[in-house]
Amino acid sequence: MRTIYWDDKKGCVTLVDQTALPVKLLLLDIHEVRDLEDAILKLKVRGAPALGAAGGFGVALLAYTIKSRDIKEYIEKLMSGADELKGTRPTAVNLSWGVERTMRKALTGKDISEIQSLALEEAKAIADDDVARCKAIGEHGSKLLEDGDTVMTHCNAGRMACVDWGTALGVIRSAVAEGKKIKVISCETRPLNQGCRITTWELMEDGIPVTLITDSMSGHVMRKGMVDKVIVGADRIVEDAVFNKIGTYTHSVVAKAHGIPFYVAAPFSTFDFTKKEKDVVIEERSGDELRYWGGMQIAPKDVQVYNPAFDATPMENVTAIITELGILKPPMDFSEIKKKFNI
Ligand code: MRU
Repeated sequence: MRTIYWDDKKGCVTLVDQTALPVKLLLLDIHEVRDLEDAILKLKVRGAPALGAAGGFGVALLAYTIKSRDIKEYIEKLMSGADELKGTRPTAVNLSWGVERTMRKALTGKDISEIQSLALEEAKAIADDDVARCKAIGEHGSKLLEDGDTVMTHCNAGRMACVDWGTALGVIRSAVAEGKKIKVISCETRPLNQGCRITTWELMEDGIPVTLITDSMSGHVMRKGMVDKVIVGADRIVEDAVFNKIGTYTHSVVAKAHGIPFYVAAPFSTFDFTKKEKDVVIEERSGDELRYWGGMQIAPKDVQVYNPAFDATPMENVTAIITELGILKPPMDFSEIKKKFNI
């Protein structure tokens, strides 16, 4: 089952509400772009590649719901709606990539009806491509895993973070499909616990052995020799750093200190060839995510909170980046990569 798709019969986007996991597998039908934006802000749909697909489907929703019949006014509304959608989460570059790719295609339409069908066609193509890209990442990455390895991961870079299969978990799934016995250590990923709620659930559904730890245990398990490799996903890759869920940088430092390979698995849609670490905005989320858990107050109501959703791991801490086109080893030279892969 896909995490996010277009339901042709209902004419809407359907997605798994990831905030309901692991208690229920709940599907949400979304008919209006403002409801999609709300789902993105509340992390009902989350994870960089899934946000890329959400961006595409969001443009399709806009294209079908804008009421104006005057083509100039219609395009203006489509463009401002697309900009608003892109702004919902600033760090995961896939969201703006998905919106922009769909807009580029849609705007080649000669009239409103062609713009609508091109937007939907492109959004569906993004979702289909994502599945193929994750499978290819899995095939390349599984070569890095040996039978018997224990892999530590952070946050959720599985099928829920993508359209299907996953990036970091896709590598593990591909290795397991090849017959390798792989165990996983999943960090809980405070404050929103994507590792504990989603990664463990996904792996247990697939029968892949997984052990849950708190984020602060990662140093201990690496020091004790319990981790062979670390694999994480990414929200944006720039020439000098990898942006991923807060806590990733800490794991990379500890992995480096213990000589443990630290791999990042991500499609090229997560690469940002235009920026460096210093130019990237890190999303800061509400302090209530730390003050409350499941509706229960766990800190003084008015305590000052700093809650960045992502951090930057410098490229020198990354052993390799596993992409759909192959494995890249830092230091990264983006102009060489663009030339080599014709991007
Ligand atoms: O805030 P989230 O849950 O959207 O953050 C997601 C992550 O940091 C994932 O690790 C990343 O998007 C990789 S997804 C394959």
